[in-house]
Amino acid sequence: MIVKGHNVKKLLAVLGCFFSCQLAAQTKLSSDEPRLRDLYKEDFSIGVAVQAKQFEGAPAGLITRHFNRLSAEFEMKWAPLLDSRQYNFAKVNHFVQFSQRHQLKLTGHTLIWHIDNPSWLFTDQQGQAVSKSVLRERMRTHIFQVMGHLRGHVDNWDVANEVLSDRAGEVYRQSEFYKIYGDESYLIDAYRFAAEADPQAELWYNDYMIETPEKLAKLLQLIRTLKSAGIKLTGIGFQSHYNLFFPSIDLIDKAFQAVLAEGLKIKVSELDVTIYSDYVDGNFEPEPFKYCDYDIQAQQAQRYRELFQLYQRYRSAMAHVTIWGLTDDQSWLNSMVQGRDDCPLLFDRLGQGKPALQALMEWQQR
Ligand code: GLA
Repeated sequence: MIVKGHNVKKLLAVLGCFFSCQLAAQTKLSSDEPRLRDLYKEDFSIGVAVQAKQFEGAPAGLITRHFNRLSAEFEMKWAPLLDSRQYNFAKVNHFVQFSQRHQLKLTGHTLIWHIDNPSWLFTDQQGQAVSKSVLRERMRTHIFQVMGHLRGHVDNWDVANEVLSDRAGEVYRQSEFYKIYGDESYLIDAYRFAAEADPQAELWYNDYMIETPEKLAKLLQLIRTLKSAGIKLTGIGFQSHYNLFFPSIDLIDKAFQAVLAEGLKIKVSELDVTIYSDYVDGNFEPEPFKYCDYDIQAQQAQRYRELFQLYQRYRSAMAHVTIWGLTDDQSWLNSMVQGRDDCPLLFDRLGQGKPALQALMEWQQR
């Protein structure tokens, strides 16, 4: 059910903020509080996904205080990189400059995805689907342009993102890449181009809900296909867009083990914990607005703590853990249901550390 009534929603949002602001005040994070990134430095780097506009003022302070790695929420995707058909690296260059100035590492996200592509990518001037060889050349050019520009700055690339299908019995998403190639071999081309474009970079595959047995089986099939083609694959990025209950720690644990058994590394690439449980039996049924109140924030803090406890057990194979957004108001989850705010991150709308942040710090200082 979608919450209706703009003013009511606004009022509820303000009340939600009122509660979370009280909570933030209670957490009393001052400037001599420890930094998240320092507390976990023996385990893995801690990243955050941001937009170039956050490289000044208070957000910049939060980023550099707590994190030592950055992902670009949008700026490194295919369509945002292009002004008409020309590459425009201005925003990406901000990421490079900011990360160099503050000694942050940079993750490359992402080269091949079924969303956020230029409108012309799959068609010719008559609007007909291009041939496999034309698409292959466009992929090659893109991968060489972007990885070439960022060579030496980005240490790991999500070469392909979300190519697995959510449909029962179908392994690969029927994306335009898949349809034009006629099979999944576009991935083999993409990873080969990436390995050539920057031989030093780690090459990853990234996806969501690969913790579920059905999708994990598809992931293992993909890994074996890539391996038998002899391509370089460093590891698997678990996006980790979770809710308070799902997936269970046990499911995540089993999926990590399955990937490790393939001789690959793991990373947590897009962690957030929504307060809503919208997927019932796999179908999207949005819950009505909830206050981000004390009880929910306490549950969320516990969920983050249990996740990090698991991550620490995998520290030797875990390359990094990246949170998908800095402050609650910036989260993509706010636009999941019109007018329904979420609070899935470690910092609230005022940039104050939430109980989840406190829980991660206390767990590490125990
Ligand atoms: C997916 C993508 C991310 C981002 C999120 C939503 O997980 O991999 O790049 O677009 O969706 O913000």
